Amino acid sequence: MYDHLTVVDHPLVQHKLTIMRDKGTSTHKFRQLLREISQLIAYEVTRELDLEEVEIETPLQPMPAPKLAGKKMALISILRAGNGLLDGILELIPGARVGFVGLYRDPETLEPVQYYFKVPEEMQDRLVIVVDPMLATGNSSAAAIDLLKQAGATNIRFLCLLAAPEGVARMKEAHPDVPIVTAALDSHLNDHGYIVPGLGDAGDRMFGTK
Ligand code: URA
Repeated sequence: MYDHLTVVDHPLVQHKLTIMRDKGTSTHKFRQLLREISQLIAYEVTRELDLEEVEIETPLQPMPAPKLAGKKMALISILRAGNGLLDGILELIPGARVGFVGLYRDPETLEPVQYYFKVPEEMQDRLVIVVDPMLATGNSSAAAIDLLKQAGATNIRFLCLLAAPEGVARMKEAHPDVPIVTAALDSHLNDHGYIVPGLGDAGDRMFGTK
């Protein structure tokens, strides 16, 4: 139904997600699971990275061996909840460059407005992975990707924990060239823009705010 969407249905991902959804799970545990699950989803989103052969010497003999090719990838966190995904992925890909996009919703126009934007140089030469745990309406994600394209990015993937059909459709309409990788596609958005059944406010749950 959504050819640009991949749901990572690995049992470990699904198990960890269930604990994260549970409202009784503590902030501490939620953050730990988010870190773990982000690495498992990152494994999927980086599956087709290009490799090149380099010559190395094992203790026994020389051999040609594969290494990641090209410029270091850029991880772009959509503030503030994106930062919870970022930490785990950076442990897996420590050489990645990191950028941040901050957007808020104008209370009158309801349009996303940029308040922070800082990304690595040479975006046109990098794989760009945008991270935001909750793809809800898709408006802020689509706006963030507009900004990244203006900064030169052409090879972009979007990594989230949960997606709503509304957000997936919005992204497909705005950015059909951007594949989405998520741990689950939930049922719908409620009147307040929350994903149902979801896990509540991801930022509040990871930072212990209300
Ligand atoms: N943002 C969240 O943190 N949770 C939702 O359910 C939707 C958007």
